[in-house]
Amino acid sequence: MSDNVKTPDPDVTLVRELLEANRRSKTMFAAVSLGIFDALKDQPKTLATLAAELNCNADALERLLDANIGVALLEKSSAGYKNRSAANKYLTSTSPQRLTGYIKYSNDVLWKLWGHLEDAVREGKHRWTQVYGWDGPIFTNFFRDEVAKRDFLFGMHGYGLLSSPEVVAAFDLSRFKTICDLGGATGHLTIAACERYPSMRGIVFDLAAAAPLAREIVGESKVADRIQIVEGDFFADELPKADLYAVGRILHDWSEVKIKLLLKRIYDRLPTGGGLLIAEKLLNADKTGPGWAQMQSLNMLVCTEGKERTLAEYEALLKSAGFKTVDGRTTNSPLDATLAVK
Ligand SMILES: C[S@@+](CC[C@H](N)C(=O)[O-])C[C@H]1O[C@@H](n2cnc3c(N)ncnc32)[C@H](O)[C@@H]1O
Repeated sequence: MSDNVKTPDPDVTLVRELLEANRRSKTMFAAVSLGIFDALKDQPKTLATLAAELNCNADALERLLDANIGVALLEKSSAGYKNRSAANKYLTSTSPQRLTGYIKYSNDVLWKLWGHLEDAVREGKHRWTQVYGWDGPIFTNFFRDEVAKRDFLFGMHGYGLLSSPEVVAAFDLSRFKTICDLGGATGHLTIAACERYPSMRGIVFDLAAAAPLAREIVGESKVADRIQIVEGDFFADELPKADLYAVGRILHDWSEVKIKLLLKRIYDRLPTGGGLLIAEKLLNADKTGPGWAQMQSLNMLVCTEGKERTLAEYEALLKSAGFKTVDGRTTNSPLDATLAVK
């Protein structure tokens, strides 16, 4: 290296890195949305072929394709552009491991809510009204039409497939006979629990709007004969009988008043010795990390009534509902596990 080439100031590197982070996300979002990774799923294609197939301006598309090489999702050779393994596994709409639902939902919906983060911080409230003019219960926004509902639930499902096997393995749950996953959506947690514990039966409990997708996904699983889908409102309807309830990414959606109401309903329905398994990413005790949980907590600010919490904060809520013991385990997946016992 010549003497006059200076090592960049790490402080400016950090700031530039953060400045560019949303551009890199959008580079991936746009490629998913335009169908680039789907188009390249089976074979490499040239720029001209892709531009014709995707109905895009060739010069602009070339910039997006090359930028996706820059973010390590594509590569190119004399045969044309080709998906790298991350794109084939997680960014094609037919892959069983796809995260495209969450990406589509991030691109179409969350991106706009995050655009008003400053206002959310000033007012301490989500941005649905400001961005879309909607002021109803939050899940009517997520479920406003069939397409939005499937995008949201498949978005949850993609992350659920990564997390649920680790969450159900974080504790030995073999003593429980029936797990009832409240707000269980597509049923990934119930499926993972029934797969890991061969004598366990499962109930996916969710709003009527979510039930058809749960039937579809559970029906395709190897443990469908042990799982029931029940429609209902966990704040109002009688909860199905179970000795283990689960709430995955539920508590972080709601205000403390509603969390207390839900925990009380669960506690009252459980037999002594029954459990509650919480799947949420735990913040460190002093909330300095992990980064994923901090980002998720801001995400909850812009689109829900809730937030992420530390284990001690969950413990305080659970103990005030009457639970005797509370134990937390971090996992290497997007969600951690907390088990409370009555
Ligand atoms: C953020 S998603 C989490 C889904 C799932 N537990 C997971 O981790 O993938 C919240 C879920 O709660 C459901 N839900 C919201 N309000 C509900 C209510 N009052 N009663 C039952 N389910 C509800 C939604 O339909 C949705 O499936």
